[in-house]
Amino acid sequence: MKIKKGVPLIDQHNASFMYGEKFGGNYIPETLKKPIDDLTKLFSVLRKNENFLKERDFYIRDYIGSPTPFIKLENLTRHLGGAQIYAKVVSEANGGAHKIYNATVHCLIAKRAGKKYIVGDTGAGYAGKMLSMAAKKFGLKCKIFMGAKDIKRQRPNVEAMKKNGAKIIPVTTGSQTLVDAVSECMRYWVSNCDTTHMCVGSTVGPNIFIKICAWSTAQISRELIKQVKEEFGKIPNKLKLLNCVGGGSSALGFWNEFIDTNAELVGIEAGGPKKSNLHAAPLTNGSKIGILHGAAQYVVQNKEGQISATESISAGLDYPGISPLHCFLKDTKRARYTSATDEEALRAYRIVSNLENISPSLEPSHAFAEAIRIAPKLNSSNVIIVNSCGDSIKDKDIIKDKLGKYIR
Ligand SMILES: Cc1ncc(COP(=O)(O)O)c(C=O)c1O
Repeated sequence: MKIKKGVPLIDQHNASFMYGEKFGGNYIPETLKKPIDDLTKLFSVLRKNENFLKERDFYIRDYIGSPTPFIKLENLTRHLGGAQIYAKVVSEANGGAHKIYNATVHCLIAKRAGKKYIVGDTGAGYAGKMLSMAAKKFGLKCKIFMGAKDIKRQRPNVEAMKKNGAKIIPVTTGSQTLVDAVSECMRYWVSNCDTTHMCVGSTVGPNIFIKICAWSTAQISRELIKQVKEEFGKIPNKLKLLNCVGGGSSALGFWNEFIDTNAELVGIEAGGPKKSNLHAAPLTNGSKIGILHGAAQYVVQNKEGQISATESISAGLDYPGISPLHCFLKDTKRARYTSATDEEALRAYRIVSNLENISPSLEPSHAFAEAIRIAPKLNSSNVIIVNSCGDSIKDKDIIKDKLGKYIR
């Protein structure tokens, strides 16, 4: 299994849409074959269409607000006393997280496909909030599927979705989290695909959804590679790019332009509570390959192959599967994966928010936890960049409950 240089990562699949022969594919019901084929054809045309690219770039700049800042975390660097630490502050994008890129591109595609309705899933609520925002902007009627547990724990984003006029469908099956929301959303789309476009909120699902999502978030690294070259005059020899990994969309966007460079790519999964056996870390906890949401990937599962319960303080990482592209990056050893516990993420949130003028949500706090672990062991010729991909405001209730106060 090898990564091909010079070929976009999303295109490195075989005729069955498998990456490295083992991951991905389209495991879909017969009724979805035509809508997925149609969307695949439409996207393959649009991604090369100059008008569409101009439209995308216009909204990336004038609606999303890119480029997002790239800043040195001087206080954190001094505090840890080792590697230089930087942040790509993607949480400054419109709406407060990277999910706006995928949501905007999906709405633009839905318009081109002549669809009036759009549906999506959400866990942390950012994918849902962004889809509701973009749907409102582009005049589409929007439904969001969200687990009942997540509705309770991500209240600020639920309020935002309602304000944007989206209908929220609470999902009360299974664990009542993201995995069930994606399943219900896909089920709904099977019966409504004639009128409705579906946006999968991360780089998971049948191949076309992985492609659209990773293609959209790649904007993050298109900006970052320029910002890095401006700051250092070149790509530093000892560069580490740290990103949390749920379904994997922010990491893939953050890394895309660096795949063919020497930068070390480090993905951080949710290790769950320290005192529990539960986690949401299929890549770092020896999970086997299974099929989830239409694609083969490493999945947290029991001996019989049933999806196991997961647990994480961060709703956005609380998912038993992982993008087939990350499985491919892991098995080719192009990226390294580790995990951080709930407690480590909370501590990292506290340290970063206290020292710096950024306040990462609990998802990127997992990546900051890894930076805090490794930076003191490295010298200042090492550069660590963390993708601060979400704002903590959605987590203020959880943070107040766990730390006694919310710091911004
Ligand atoms: C801020 C933030 N970061 C990370 C994630 C994890 O998703 P992904 O791995 O697709 O970026 C989410 C998911 O909701 C999120 O809201």
